[in-house]
Amino acid sequence: MAGSIDLVLGDITTLEVDAIVNAANPSLLGGGGVDGAIHRAAGPELLQECRFLGGCEPGEAKHTQGYRLPARWVIHTVGPIWHGGRRGEEETLRDCYRHSLLLAEELGATSVAFPSISTGVYGYPVERAVPVAVQEVRRHVEQATLPQRVVLVAFDERTHEAYRDALGG
Ligand code: APR
Repeated sequence: MAGSIDLVLGDITTLEVDAIVNAANPSLLGGGGVDGAIHRAAGPELLQECRFLGGCEPGEAKHTQGYRLPARWVIHTVGPIWHGGRRGEEETLRDCYRHSLLLAEELGATSVAFPSISTGVYGYPVERAVPVAVQEVRRHVEQATLPQRVVLVAFDERTHEAYRDALGG
């Protein structure tokens, strides 16, 4: 039974899902954007646990507890910094979605929410990142039993529009 893919416009830290994905940096020690929002909402224990993870390579994914978040887990992944598209950025972005979904499956998460990885501070053009995200999520849910529900979270109207187009809405 293929999983469902939902689109929401809002703040990922409020979602009642098993796992939320964080668009982190290689240090995993917090930052701005969605990384900052997740650390603020989860509380200081999140950073304490992150200190023991030893960082994260671009395209990889590591998990922690969710602490004060509604979500049980946070899956931290590091997206590519956009340098024009000729340095393997797309492949690294695909890896972020693939590895985060495989980790969610391993954890037994039935629902997982993604922000639009790399399209903020890291400068990946939304119109190019969003179809990649939708392709990789579709590929996973078509062949795996978990997660049963993937929520793609847009934080602004432009991203929401791009997801709506990519999902064929
Ligand atoms: N909920 C959902 N999405 C959010 C939220 C939120 N609370 N806050 C920001 N976003 C969106 C942004 O609008 C953007 O569409 O998340 C997307 C990713 O943007 P960034 O958070 O800037 O992440 P990214 O582009 O991957 O850059 C990562 O930024 O915060 C630092 O530590 C982080 O160095 C790393 C870099």
